[in-house]
Amino acid sequence: GAAAAAPRHETLAALREGYQHFDPRAYLQNNYLPPRADFSSEEFVVPWKLRCLAETFASGEIHGRTLIDVGSGPTIYQLLSACDHFEEIVATDYLAVNREELGRWVRGEPGTFDWSPFIQHVCKIEGRG
Ligand SMILES: C[S@@+](CC[C@H](N)C(=O)[O-])C[C@H]1O[C@@H](n2cnc3c(N)ncnc32)[C@H](O)[C@@H]1O
Repeated sequence: GAAAAAPRHETLAALREGYQHFDPRAYLQNNYLPPRADFSSEEFVVPWKLRCLAETFASGEIHGRTLIDVGSGPTIYQLLSACDHFEEIVATDYLAVNREELGRWVRGEPGTFDWSPFIQHVCKIEGRG
């Protein structure tokens, strides 16, 4: 059909245009707070994702010097189980709003997203204190 025949650059332009409206705070609220981020059961998507990542990195099959996370968005949960398997992790995103959101978190500025329940949960499933 016409959509399948569309030149690749048009598809990419549409994708890029869509992301210009990306709101990091709304994205975090919709995806990384309850009900999705309910750590009481792996029936909820966030603890399920953390389990998948923990198992993947625990397998030892993915390791190296530098991990480049393409499209980190405003989130770091996806890197937690990777930390022990890489010397360096580079988070990337083409939207400045997302890079700025992560920068504020790194610098410990007030009002940034609280990743500590995620960190605690990963420590728990990895069997750490
Ligand atoms: C759905 S969000 C995912 C965010 C986060 N990784 C997560 O797991 O929730 C996708 C992100 O990828 C970014 N992105 C999409 N294509 C990209 C590209 N080619 N290079 C860098 N970032 C990209 C977007 O700006 C957006 O922040």
